[in-house]
Amino acid sequence: MEIVIRTTAEAAAELTASVIAREIRGNPHLVLGLATGRTMEAVYRILVRKHREERLDFAEVTTFNLDEYVGVPREHPGSYRYYMNEHLFGRVNIESARTFLPNGMASDIPTECRQYESRIRNRGGVNLQLLGIGRSGHIGFNEPLSALRSRTREKPLTPKTIEQNSPMFGGPDQMPRWAITMGVGTILESHRCILLATGAEKAEIIAKAVEGPITSMISATALQLHPHCTVVVDEAAASHLEQTDYYRWVFENERDWADFR
Ligand code: GLP
Repeated sequence: MEIVIRTTAEAAAELTASVIAREIRGNPHLVLGLATGRTMEAVYRILVRKHREERLDFAEVTTFNLDEYVGVPREHPGSYRYYMNEHLFGRVNIESARTFLPNGMASDIPTECRQYESRIRNRGGVNLQLLGIGRSGHIGFNEPLSALRSRTREKPLTPKTIEQNSPMFGGPDQMPRWAITMGVGTILESHRCILLATGAEKAEIIAKAVEGPITSMISATALQLHPHCTVVVDEAAASHLEQTDYYRWVFENERDWADFR
């Protein structure tokens, strides 16, 4: 795992978007794993800008989102399909047939989950997986006690997640209780992943995810097992980390980051 600390949330999002852009330019057929949430809005805004101003080309890119709510139609403003259309898909030249999210309206959810896994496999796996982190430490919707080898499946949401995400549904009562999410095992198979967390409210969970012991209670800790995982944080989200001098030194000296310093 490598930790990159940027001064501001905007700079952290800028670096994350630049890594994604570099991967797309290096491989126009990239299979890109995508995440939702407020943190990612800045990343998508920057990618849209790069598409418009720097001709970043999404024509051959395929995307797989981490998760989707169960029982929420795609036209609903709270659905992740709606979010993706609003923030990215509707604003760049991506082909909608190449954008995949789990179908939370499927009549047979277990079959939908198995098919989602095989769609990813048939395209050779996810090359680069973008991740956020929930306040409970989840990646995707892998809530506490998600098996570290879990696959795409239906998962019940915790009260904390319901509270955190309910504004999009007009309050906790209207908020779905279940979601389909890629499993921790699915995420660990991505060739590379990049987790972005910004703001002081993520500081405690980032310290646990990065420097704490691996536990299924905090699915983000499983990323310590990933062979190529980058965690990008702003100063606020880095504020509970213990080894920041070391992380900064690595970033300044690692050849891979030369273009980004
Ligand atoms: C949701 C998503 C997660 C995301 C999290 C963080 O729960 N399922 O994939 O990481 O939100 O959201 P935010 O960026 O709004 O803090």
